[in-house]
Amino acid sequence: MIDESLLRTAIEQATLVRRHAYAPYSNFLVGAALVAADGTIYRGCNVENASYGLTQCAERSAVTAATADANRAIVCCVVIADTPEPITPCGACRQVLAEVSMDMVVVCRTLSGQEQRFTMHELLPSGFAPSSLPPS
Ligand code: THU
Repeated sequence: MIDESLLRTAIEQATLVRRHAYAPYSNFLVGAALVAADGTIYRGCNVENASYGLTQCAERSAVTAATADANRAIVCCVVIADTPEPITPCGACRQVLAEVSMDMVVVCRTLSGQEQRFTMHELLPSGFAPSSLPPS
């Protein structure tokens, strides 16, 4: 269970960092915030590139921030975009979030407050996982 007041803070932070998105090609700004078990919040936004395929999504930017702080004990990921219905993480981001934790809750929100919550098992059932690899 995610602490609802911490979640509210994460939603605020994802909303703020969304404004830092570098999205001159799609003009689609996305903000993400990861909530760690110790209450730390890590933010990320999408960062596009003239070589379009090099675009980094908001969720993966947030995972990079948490990893750089040596904190991958993540319990929740908030994703915010300005859409009529909440967006869910793309396939690549689902794979990267799954590597962090299959137990995190993913909270998808619109700017106007529409919200949908998912488990990682709902977003990436039968995924390829670290446990799928043979022992080294
Ligand atoms: N994007 C994200 O940052 N996260 C998502 O969950 C979906 C898509 C970004 C990538 C690209 O910069 C823009 O949104 C349009 O696809």
